[in-house]
Amino acid sequence: MVGVDRFKEIEIEAMTWRRYLHENPELDYRVNDTAAFVAEKLASFGINHIECGIAETGVVALIQGQLGDGPTIGLRADMDALPILEASGKPWTSKRSGQMHACGHDGHTAMLLGAAKYLAATRNFKGSVALIFQPAEEDGRGGQRMVQEGIMDRFGISQVFGMHNWPGMEVGTFGICEGSIFAALDEFDIVVKGRGGHAAAPHLTIDPVVVAAQIILGLQTLVSRNTDPTESLVISVTKLNAGQAYNIIPERAEIAGTVRTLSPILRDFAEKQIEACAENIARASGAKVEFQHRRLEPLTVNHPDQTRRATEVARALVGHSSVNPKVKPSLGSEDFAYMLEARPGACILLGNGSTAALHNPTYDFNDEALPYGIGYWVNLAEAALAP
Ligand code: NI
Repeated sequence: MVGVDRFKEIEIEAMTWRRYLHENPELDYRVNDTAAFVAEKLASFGINHIECGIAETGVVALIQGQLGDGPTIGLRADMDALPILEASGKPWTSKRSGQMHACGHDGHTAMLLGAAKYLAATRNFKGSVALIFQPAEEDGRGGQRMVQEGIMDRFGISQVFGMHNWPGMEVGTFGICEGSIFAALDEFDIVVKGRGGHAAAPHLTIDPVVVAAQIILGLQTLVSRNTDPTESLVISVTKLNAGQAYNIIPERAEIAGTVRTLSPILRDFAEKQIEACAENIARASGAKVEFQHRRLEPLTVNHPDQTRRATEVARALVGHSSVNPKVKPSLGSEDFAYMLEARPGACILLGNGSTAALHNPTYDFNDEALPYGIGYWVNLAEAALAP
């Protein structure tokens, strides 16, 4: 086990990288400068197998161990920022107005670079470590595209690991759970078709506004009355559009929203029942509905063996009681899910202290977390690839 204090020097360097990346955020696939920065650093560590331009701007690099042949494990960081106007007030505030690292992907990138530097210098493992730097996590497509472009097969990756910083968890602590750690993300659109007319003669119309209102309340009872209270289902109606005048009952009303679930069964249930609920309520009033449901991101499911490995490594690093092996899953989504669909692996949460929440304009990655993230990656690689 390599203790956290072994990363003091790398930690200082990683902090300067992190703050540089924070000052220069880039969005979705357009992380060109970030990817160039990553590739240049990797080359400076003496890594000679670096491939750029995967999923447009993704980077994968291979470090070969010096302890003989063995499997390849993937360690993944995301590089993209968010379209948010920064209000952190930090000296390293974004120089690109309206773009900001509000999810800490600057920290994720810096930590994986820090681990890369250490691993490339020591190579105290068998097989290889594949460093995966992905674009476009926030729109949920970068991870999927890297998998579609064949990184798992091309680099011979047999297991894959991810990490996300977590505000509200103390620095120097980790959280993980077996099974779903992030939710599946779906979206739906419901168009209620009624019959328009004069607002003073509602009996001659089929009012889609009233039907839409009933549907919205009906959807909430799917959660409160039809779902096991010990399971998680979120249905949020986030858009409602109908009509333009005070004295006209419109022809149609539109409802849209998002669904989050932590189990495939509940995900199927929600899709079926949202449609049935909307249709049946509309039918009772003589209205019709058009329904669309889109599955955007899969569940992020931690596999048992890799979760156990990740937990053991984190505990060896920070102590038994500083790792919560049954952390509450998040109803947010994470496109590392696609990598976990392709290969067994696990995603761990890293304490970011009492900072602002993710995606908040005052959020900032906590540099004090850097040595823990770097230490986790290094020890995970050495443990998973021990001779
Ligand atoms: Ni994130």
